[in-house]
Amino acid sequence: MNDDVFRIVFVCLGNICRSPMAEVVMRSFVEQAGLSDRIAVASAGTGDWHVGERADPRTVEILAGRGYDGSAHRARQFEASWFDDYDLVVALDAANLAELRRLAPYDRRDDVRLLRAYDPTLGADVGDLDVPDPYYGGPEGFGEALSMVERACRGLLDDVVARIGR
Ligand code: 4NP
Repeated sequence: MNDDVFRIVFVCLGNICRSPMAEVVMRSFVEQAGLSDRIAVASAGTGDWHVGERADPRTVEILAGRGYDGSAHRARQFEASWFDDYDLVVALDAANLAELRRLAPYDRRDDVRLLRAYDPTLGADVGDLDVPDPYYGGPEGFGEALSMVERACRGLLDDVVARIGR
């Protein structure tokens, strides 16, 4: 898109748990940094099962518990044409990354990145960089996913600010 807004889309599988968390957290950080007119944030899923639905109630609840509002979310499915609309596509796990790189135009594959690769608190010896899918697990998985998202979005914001300048 030919304007000076930097556009980020977070992508998981269903777009009802992890990527809505990332969207809401990142938008909050962008607002706190006073950059809402420079950085736009969205989310989607690689799958279509939940299109049009609200975020999972467990997602909305864990977000609310940490001061974020996830109530406006409606799930969407990522489409390959969206590479025209977004500067950066951020995958929540390695399976999402592989699927998105498969969909990406050849010259845009490097614009698909794993969210946790931006986590400044992770050492080089970390195992994988997935935000594990909490959908089929217990409530603790949602809290852990949100903590991972919060840490990584701090680093992502710094990275994007370095790219676009203050
Ligand atoms: P998400 O979680 O990818 O974090 O939104 C999931 C939600 C639904 C399904 C899988 C993952 N599902 O298979 O319906």
